[in-house]
Order: sequence, then C-alpha cells, then structure tokens
Amino acid sequence: MSATSKSNDAGSDGPKPAPACTLVIFGAGGDLTKRLLMPALYNLVRSGLINDQTRILGVDWVQMTAKVWAANLTDTMRTFALGGPAEFHVDAIDSEAWGFITERLDYLQGDFLADQTYSALSEAIEGSAIFYFAVAERFFAPIAAHLGSAGLLDQHDGNFRHVVIEKPFGRDLASARQLNADLLAVADESQLFRIDHFLGKETVQSIMALRFTNGIFEPIWRREHVDHVQITVAETIGVEARGGFYDVTGALRDMVPNHLFQLLCMAAMEPPNSFSPDAVRNARQQLLEAISPIAVEDAVRGQYTAGNGLRSYRDADHVDPKSAVETYAALKLDIGNWRWQGVPFYLRTGKSMGNRLSEIAVVFKVPPRLMFSDQPAQDLTPNVIRFQISPEHGTRISFNSKVPGPELRIGVVASTFRDSDFFPERANVGYETLIYDCMNGDTTLFQRADNIEAGWAAVGDILQAWTKGKPEAYKSGSDGPSAADELLARDGRAWLPLDETPTPSRRQKS
Ligand code: BG6
Repeated sequence: MSATSKSNDAGSDGPKPAPACTLVIFGAGGDLTKRLLMPALYNLVRSGLINDQTRILGVDWVQMTAKVWAANLTDTMRTFALGGPAEFHVDAIDSEAWGFITERLDYLQGDFLADQTYSALSEAIEGSAIFYFAVAERFFAPIAAHLGSAGLLDQHDGNFRHVVIEKPFGRDLASARQLNADLLAVADESQLFRIDHFLGKETVQSIMALRFTNGIFEPIWRREHVDHVQITVAETIGVEARGGFYDVTGALRDMVPNHLFQLLCMAAMEPPNSFSPDAVRNARQQLLEAISPIAVEDAVRGQYTAGNGLRSYRDADHVDPKSAVETYAALKLDIGNWRWQGVPFYLRTGKSMGNRLSEIAVVFKVPPRLMFSDQPAQDLTPNVIRFQISPEHGTRISFNSKVPGPELRIGVVASTFRDSDFFPERANVGYETLIYDCMNGDTTLFQRADNIEAGWAAVGDILQAWTKGKPEAYKSGSDGPSAADELLARDGRAWLPLDETPTPSRRQKS
C-alpha cells in the first residue's frame, strides 16, 4: 500500500516496476512458495510491476534443477486454473506472464545451516537482493546469522539487502525479543520486513483510507459516540493437516497478537502524522501500548468438539487426544487513552465455527431519547459500521429508518459498499503489495520490532494463565463457547451474528 504505490495509482503514470533485485526464497519447495508467493509474483508481473532484471533464486535442501523446480511450480499453477480450494483463482494462466517468471528462476540446493550454502549464494548474487524466509521458524535466526557472517546483508553501492520473515515471530515476549535481537545483530531495522499477511489484505488497508480520507468518520470515532467495537475472525475450517503446529500454538498465539491486533490498530489507532512508514508504525505502536492489562476473567477459550460433519480437535492428526489447547479465543480489551477510555473492544477468533467471517464492527451509541414512539430509546438497534474483510470485501453501514405506512414504526436499513461495485477487481492473494513494497524498501505494512513485542506483551498474562485449566468445549459449526456470549452479556451486549447479512425483513423491528 506504500505511500508511493498509492500516489502512483492516483497519478497519470500508474505504478512503476519495482527496482531490480534477486529474490532469494529459502523454502523454495514449500507450500507458501507454491500457493502464495508464485501467484503473487505472477499477479505483479501481469500488472507490470516486476522489473525485467529481476531474478528468483530458490534455495532448499531437495536435490533438483531450476528446470524441475520451474516444472513443479508450473504444475501447481495449472491446478489453480482447475479450481479447488486456494487463495489464487484464475480461469487460465497467462503463459506470457508465467513465462516471464519461469525464465527468471534459478535453484540452489543447500542446507540452511551449512556454510557452503552461503558461499554459493555469495557467488550467485550481485546487486540488490531480498532474502525471503519461507521456512519453519526454527531456521529464522540461524539463516540470518549465516547471511550476516557471509556478508550477504551488507548494503553498498546503492544496492539493498532486505530480509522477509514470516510468522510465527516468537511464541511469547521473551522469544520474540530474542529473535529481534538475533536479527538486529546482523541487519538494520530498515532491512527487516516482518510479515503479517493481514496487512497485505486489500480491505484491511482500505480501513486506513476510509478513516483518514473522509471527514464524516473521524469526528464520531471516539468514546463519546462509539458504544463498543467487535473484531471477529471466524473460520469454518478446523486445524486440518496443521495439528502438529497448532497443538503447541493455540488460537491466542496463532491469531491474536498478530492478525487481530493489526485489525485493532487499523480501527483504533490515532491518525498518523503522515503515511510515512514510521509515522504509521508509531501510531500502531502507541495504540498497542495503550492496551490495559487483560484480566483473566476478560479472556475466554474454547476447543471444538465433533459436529457438522467435522472431527473434534482432539481427533485431528498430530493432536494430543487429551489436548487442552484452545481453538477459540475471545478477549475484552480496554484501551487506556483519551479516545477510547471506557469503550470495550471485544475480539474473537476460532476454528470450526458456524460461518466464515472476518470483520471489524463499530457499534455506535443509541440516541438518548426516542420522541416519536413509546419504544424506549435503548431498544433501538444501534448503528453499526462493519468493515468486511471476508468473505465480503467492503463496508456495511446500518441505521434506523421509518417503516413505510401510516403508523410510526422504526426499521433497520443497511447499505453495503462493495469495493467491486466501484473499482475494477484486481487479482490478489494478499502478498502482492507486501512483495512490491519490500522491493521498494517501504516498511509501512510490516511489523517493526517494537510492534511485535507490544503485541506479545499485551497477551502475556493470558498466555501465562492459560498454561493451567482447560478450554470450554464448543460444537463444530456453532458460534463458539457459551462463556464468550457471557463475556458480552455481562456488559448488556451481544456478539453480532456470524451469518452476516440478515435480510431486511428479518432485521425489521416493530
Ligand atoms: C494464519 C494462521 O496466520 O492465518 C491460520 O496460522 C489462519 O491458522 C490464517 O487460518 C487465517 O488467514 P486468512 O488469510 O485465511 O484469513
């Protein structure tokens, strides 16, 4: 989303191809490379954003040639065109654009922990380079150390050397601090691009644009007018084949200090002084630091049992049959600053739930008095602005109106602005902007060391508390554990339904 790409978008010249570099992908044979990085690069090529001089160098331990790697990737790209569950959907692969990529592929067989791999890399790379760590987290620090000692992160003659680190970035504050220290021992903060793929989502970025380019939102975006905020990332899928990872991670670690907090920042941070990377990251940091310590009774955990044709979490492969790991987490947060003091932010995320829904819902206060009906004002449905991230992409605003007819009855109406109704749709797997920004050296949409640590610090007490006890069971296909409903009921509130857009007639209040 970089300020650069944005202003270019609006300008007559259109966005420019990124500077030339060698994109070195550690984990060339892995899932992330196939499913997301290659489709994102392909989309960038189609938009004319990849420099002709770009090279893509895959590194992995498997013995194969560049030709075989290219053939494998081509096979995967073809399967996308056949449909099936994937982030990337196309009717056909544009052979010119894909050919642009395959012509630029090179492959280096090597052990991530062996010195020879890095001497071979030194031979193979000239000029600017990006080192993309698409590998398991245990390799992050060792690869960085090897790159550092081989001099591969030295930047000179105007060339850049950037490092992209995937998640998980640590598993608590102490390990995140250690990883930051390891990375910062060999590279400058400006060379580090810590990915949170939620920041690459088009609709997440558009929240900033919506809030900060429209005069109508900012005045009401505060405690005087907002009753509370709900942030939801509900998934219908279970842990699938990721049981081994998930059973030592859990929903809180997997989703909250990173993805849900990114949504929180977009919804609640102060307007940055500019859209420069550090101004935006400072605004996010200020917000994260304002999260008050979370009381244990303001945190709810759940674990899914069988239902809706899905196996229970404990029956998933590589999961301990007695596991006490949570697959659902809900939190009530208090943001201790002038804008939000006293406005609860309720966050929830879970697997195997009744519906897939990612959104931020800002729920407004109702007017103090209803003068034309005997309905008490509190019975009015509050206005809600919903930033829809998936499955819908857009913004939905609901408000009250008079039901046509002789009597004065109030009903709820809603308006949805889908991005696709106004702008041409662009193929996007979510990594395009992130790769393009990294090539341009724009860190706005990446996590700074302190952002990561502030996220972990905020959930530290709950991580600690949840090492004891166990989560409440909830049925697959349901809306989560009953304790999560009680968390809001206790405050006289309720979660918005997961089944998104209720029909107008169902919503009408008489
Ligand atoms: C990942 C988590 O980071 O994000 C997954 O590890 C989760 O458990 C995923 O399913 C959600 O991302 P998205 O883009 O599918 O909403």
